[in-house]
Amino acid sequence: MDKVAKEYRERLKRLEELDEAYYTNDSPLLSDAQYDELRREIEAFERAHPELMTAQSAARKVGSKPAKGFRTIVHHVPMLSLTNAMTDEDVTDFITRVRNFLSIPDSEVLEILAEPKIDGLSCSLYYEGGELIYAATRGDGETGEDITENVRTIGSIPQNLSNTKGGNLGTKSGTSPALSIPDKIEIRGEIYMDREDFAALNAAQQKSGGKIFANPRNAAAGSVRQLDAAITAARPLKFFGYALGLHSHEFAATQDGINQALNAWGFAQAEPRKLCRNLEEIFEYYHTVETIRPDLKYDIDGVVYKVNRLDYQVRLGFIARAPRWAVAHKFAAQQAHTIVRDITIQVGRTGALTPVAELEPITVGGVVVGRATLHNRDEIERKDIRIGDHVIVQRAGDVIPQIVAVVMDQRPADSSKFIFPDHCPACGARAVRHADEVVTKCTGGLSCPAQAVERLKHFVSRLGFDIEGLGAKIIEEFYQDQFITNPAEIFTLEARDAHSITPLRKRAGWGDLSAKNLFAAIDARRSISLHRFIYALGIPQVGESTAKKLAAHYRNFSDLRTSLQSAQDQESTAYAELLEISDIGHSVAQDLIDFFAEAHNLRIIDNLLQHVHIDDHAPPAPQTGVFAGKTIVFTGTLSTISRNEAKARAEQLGAKVAGSISAKTDYLVAGADAGSKLKKAQELGIKILSEDEWALMIKNL
Ligand code: IVH
Repeated sequence: MDKVAKEYRERLKRLEELDEAYYTNDSPLLSDAQYDELRREIEAFERAHPELMTAQSAARKVGSKPAKGFRTIVHHVPMLSLTNAMTDEDVTDFITRVRNFLSIPDSEVLEILAEPKIDGLSCSLYYEGGELIYAATRGDGETGEDITENVRTIGSIPQNLSNTKGGNLGTKSGTSPALSIPDKIEIRGEIYMDREDFAALNAAQQKSGGKIFANPRNAAAGSVRQLDAAITAARPLKFFGYALGLHSHEFAATQDGINQALNAWGFAQAEPRKLCRNLEEIFEYYHTVETIRPDLKYDIDGVVYKVNRLDYQVRLGFIARAPRWAVAHKFAAQQAHTIVRDITIQVGRTGALTPVAELEPITVGGVVVGRATLHNRDEIERKDIRIGDHVIVQRAGDVIPQIVAVVMDQRPADSSKFIFPDHCPACGARAVRHADEVVTKCTGGLSCPAQAVERLKHFVSRLGFDIEGLGAKIIEEFYQDQFITNPAEIFTLEARDAHSITPLRKRAGWGDLSAKNLFAAIDARRSISLHRFIYALGIPQVGESTAKKLAAHYRNFSDLRTSLQSAQDQESTAYAELLEISDIGHSVAQDLIDFFAEAHNLRIIDNLLQHVHIDDHAPPAPQTGVFAGKTIVFTGTLSTISRNEAKARAEQLGAKVAGSISAKTDYLVAGADAGSKLKKAQELGIKILSEDEWALMIKNL
């Protein structure tokens, strides 16, 4: 066996040299035929001894150079999310809102298409001339990651679209010509993993010492976001199609028609779906799906209701990041009964001590839960949670499992209250809690290894530097070996490694290729966007959204830094400016100021800046639309459309819609029975339009 392994590795190494010569140096060492021969030999080895194959196996990278990070793709049409409805009342409100917006009387049927909400990873597939050109993740909705190579390995995604069924697709007349595939089309849907496949994958991962995934959704996301498409190929991923982005011509009149088209082109769809004609049918559908949910092959976290008519969808449009024509009706959180085996304390990157309940593992809604956060000392006291207690745990979607309550009548007779530690379990320093705070914090600062490691993990996390191959586990290992003890050391890793007695590639679990890949992934991040950099610093209370706001406001790092230093003086204009940024209040402002006042933090930043270039934040796209910069007020009763629809349409055209007349108002659209606003507009000499005049003005826009 050892001999086989040795021969296999030798061939892999040879292949790697050949690849490097071919791809990096453009100077092949062998003829194509000889190269292919070597590849076939390696494949034969792998077939005969699959256990030899590592994730890094060069032979799996079918002739392509390993990608350095993901490129980004701007979606033709933004990818939206859905508004959530948690209760029946929320659903009723949704239907009422839609009816009012479109002025549909109760006597008229409003068709709603109901379908399962799959818990996976949304993806946009772009086809041109029927051919799959690229695939992208949702990303921030505007820009996603290029996952084309990975998606090409998913069997249920057609590489080429062809009409396998033919027929009509619910067009207005119902007699449209046979379905034709638009020349350009973005197809949206969900990449997911069946529960059974997920369980098998985790079992295999456990055996090989690989990453264990928390749930099928994470497994799907982790499998797609692989720089090596060969790893994706080995994962059992599937795809459901359910919506469109850009499409160069209309081919359906209803959502149902879109589904039929997608189906005809070879896309699978989640079942059951139902065309509902009223609220009773909607709720009946919801309960049916809730009942069969445990028996479904895949995870769903609710159902989605979509206004069926596409002309209605167009009129309804979007609000913020979600369509007005759809809503997600979520399932209630799932609960289970288990026992608290222990209560442990975790130390976070800011030194906060978080108690965690170590549970007797239990399945909640298809996912095994072994731990639940207890948040803080007060929470334990409030719920009086003790080691040995029987508890109800709850899990809702992606939310961290929580303990809802203790089952008091099952409490062991000898149980005692949990005593919260007054010293940090990681470094032994005192743990204190300030009068007006809920958290107990370690006072060890950066001398506390837990804090240092957590900061490093945060630094490289997905929303921060996001360095492929440098995950939490590796960071812990590297920190323990004093290989990386602060952020700047990540960027000197390769240089130091070259002089190391045991270089990375010689370490257990590493090889030439994986070490090289890691260095490449690090290099790819020597240039980073401003908001990622801010996020990565791990300033308390500064998450992704605040980081983005700071980046958009200050534009470049040196301005941000100087401003936040000047803001130490609360009387300064810099402090006032900081508070003007939306969502930044005194508390966040103070954390920001404290961070930039601390010499140690500045040293870390200065060290980092020797290796990292921070890209300035790009200025916002200019406002577009015919009415950009114009302010419009609507008053009186409109007869052809609802007030909300009129407002939405004006906003779509770039206008700002105001509620009252002022000197800044550009137009007043006056419906029937207009009163004081009309009078005021006349006084101020503002341009007044009748409903018809307004309709005419925007007719062809
Ligand atoms: S429609 C414009 N339909 O849920 C609306 N989304 O929470 C596009 N999702 O981002 C979405 N199943 O990733 C739609 N049947 C379904 C869905 C679905 C799952 C996901 C989708 C979306 C997220 C919003």
